[in-house]
Amino acid sequence: MSSSARNGGELDYLDPGADRSPNQPLLEVDNLKTYFRTSRGLVRAVDGVSLSVDRGQTLGVVGESGSGKTVLSRSIMGLLPAHNVVREGSVVFDGRNLVGLGPSDMRHIWGADIAMVFQDPMTSLNPVVKIGRQIAEGLRLHLGMSKDRARETSVELLRSVKIPEAERRLQQYPHELSGGMRQRVMIAIAIACGPKLLMADEPTTALDVTVQSHILDVLKEKQRERDMAMILVTHDLGVVAGRTDEIAVMYAGKVVERAPTRTLFAEMRMPYTEALLKSIPRIEYPSHTRLLAITGRPPDLVSPPPGCNFAPRCPYAQERCRVEEPPLMPAETPGHEFACWYPVGTPEGKAALEANLSAGVPQAVAAVSALEIGA
Ligand SMILES: Nc1ncnc2c1ncn2[C@@H]1O[C@H](COP(=O)(O)OP(=O)(O)OP(=O)(O)O)[C@@H](O)[C@H]1O
Ligand code: SF4
Ligand SMILES: [Mg+2]
Repeated sequence: MSSSARNGGELDYLDPGADRSPNQPLLEVDNLKTYFRTSRGLVRAVDGVSLSVDRGQTLGVVGESGSGKTVLSRSIMGLLPAHNVVREGSVVFDGRNLVGLGPSDMRHIWGADIAMVFQDPMTSLNPVVKIGRQIAEGLRLHLGMSKDRARETSVELLRSVKIPEAERRLQQYPHELSGGMRQRVMIAIAIACGPKLLMADEPTTALDVTVQSHILDVLKEKQRERDMAMILVTHDLGVVAGRTDEIAVMYAGKVVERAPTRTLFAEMRMPYTEALLKSIPRIEYPSHTRLLAITGRPPDLVSPPPGCNFAPRCPYAQERCRVEEPPLMPAETPGHEFACWYPVGTPEGKAALEANLSAGVPQAVAAVSALEIGA
């Protein structure tokens, strides 16, 4: 198949199928740690994360605020502060370990091989440079395009992310566009050089719900056309439900459950994943349904509690949880792993929840009563 056929006829300067070695995951992260040295002590923002992403696949990374999603994304990209950071483990991208590479080596990878769409386009777009120049920059730098060719390609790119009046937009500054349009520009810039991996960190959180869904659809469409892999970071399990192949759930800097998307929704084992799912508003819930907000606060990453980090908030927690940290263990379905001693949906889990309910443990009572109508 020709590249233009694969791209649906547009943007045929790229061949998304070029130089692929299909048997190896595109990205393999192994035991990645990212700690910040602060006056309070070492903040363990990412604490031993392992994950992999195949070519063309989408991994959702989900977790509450402060669970380490952005630090993980930035650590994979090598976009961390220059000082007071400890980064250990390996990030093998396309057969090459990125941990240890300096900014000059990474500059060849950023944009060309791995690109990122951030939550707030105003912080990543240059406010005093016209849109056209911002898109053309990468095309000229990484693909060596002439000025005219880069301009034409920028127009094609803006059209491909469904920006009306593309030619006119090249002359505009970021502040002249709406939030949704700016985010589309960010996507155009991110995909311009045909990266193999797109990291999208809460790409739609700042936008209203309808715009969110359009932007996520554009992202998905571009990803399919170009056979890009994507890591979609969000605090909302609802956002990743229909848009990912696999999901990794993060809590306090660790992956606590990981599974193919369908398996996760059908057979989730971590009480934290269950709580995240219950915190999604659903149309079918009656209008007075109180949503389960996860009780308590995430742990202090400088001195996390012993045992399972989720224990102080968990409706299922037992004594063992407070002393012994559960490792990631395999579930029955291949590719599904979770870190929990009393998993949801198992006899041990049910017994643990019932014991906590009988004892009046507040987080168990809150979790069970949360979906009662009129509560
Ligand atoms: N430069 C830094 N120095 C010290 N601590 C940091 C630094 N950057 C992040 N952290 C801490 O690391 C933890 C993880 O932060 P991170 O931004 O990755 O969370 P997040 O999951 O992306 O949250 P959100 O959903 O709010 O974006 C937080 O406790 C944060 O305070
Ligand atoms: S049941 Fe125990 S191990 Fe499982 S999430 Fe709750 S506190 Fe952690
Ligand atoms: Mg974040």
